[in-house]
Amino acid sequence: MHIVIQGAGRGLGLAFAHHALRAGATNLYLTARNPQDCEGFRQLQPSERVQWFNLDFLSSDQIATTGEGILAAAPHIDRIIITAGILHDGEIQPEKRVGALEAEAMLHLYQINAMGPVLFLKSLWPALRRAHPITAASLSARVGSISDNRLGGWYSYRASKAALNQYMRTLSIELARYNDQAKIVTLHPGTVETDLSQPYRSQVAKGQLKSAAESAAQLWAVLDRLSAADSGGFFAYDGKPINF
Ligand SMILES: NC(=O)c1ccc[n+]([C@@H]2O[C@H](COP(=O)([O-])OP(=O)(O)OC[C@H]3O[C@@H](n4cnc5c(N)ncnc54)[C@H](OP(=O)(O)O)[C@@H]3O)[C@@H](O)[C@H]2O)c1
Repeated sequence: MHIVIQGAGRGLGLAFAHHALRAGATNLYLTARNPQDCEGFRQLQPSERVQWFNLDFLSSDQIATTGEGILAAAPHIDRIIITAGILHDGEIQPEKRVGALEAEAMLHLYQINAMGPVLFLKSLWPALRRAHPITAASLSARVGSISDNRLGGWYSYRASKAALNQYMRTLSIELARYNDQAKIVTLHPGTVETDLSQPYRSQVAKGQLKSAAESAAQLWAVLDRLSAADSGGFFAYDGKPINF
């Protein structure tokens, strides 16, 4: 199994990389913004089975060249997991009120959470459209569901994840015309103990917070069970579909 994991330097991406090896991956193509500086690189050193690539979703040029590099290295691809996502980043905090919206921060989240994943899949298009069973999953979040939005707040995170869901669904429809064995989905991992959730831990009900390893294992099993008819869907860690 040849597996691509974007964002394998930490958090859920790193947990997916470990899980992929346990599940029998023969080759891993892993990305991080700065591989040499990340925990994932220390744990999974480059080898015949593990290759690292630099990838920052803020650079469309780098997305294209990294995609080319992965296509050149991998004879084919069985599974692609895209984990990039930010909720807070330095000065940027999730907006609780409309008055907190700032154009630059809105664009920043949109570029990383929504545009990055679909541009990365664009760069891997030759591998996706080749007729074979390939699964591509991008980590979204339940708060990106418009029909489930009852609390408000977190404007840009919600909106960027809703846009991600729409990009992936649209891509799944186009891809089915070329490769009817392909599955493209978005996933909700639950509330997971990573850097992203760190500032909000105290608000999480007891027993609701899971480890990255647990969430990655659950989501991997969800991907194993998908059929081509599920392509374009949005699924939670328990396999249940989430309404857009
Ligand atoms: N944790 C949760 O409770 C939770 C809940 C719902 C959804 N999610 C979603 O799950 C996904 C994984 O999050 P996590 O919990 O593992 O958070 P995390 O530990 O904070 O990891 C964030 C990931 O995003 C990557 N990233 C950030 N900026 C990037 C950029 N400019 N270009 C490319 N990659 C970039 C990081 O890569 P670097 O290491 O290179 O910075 C890292 O791999 C996200 O999409 C998040 O929205 C998480």
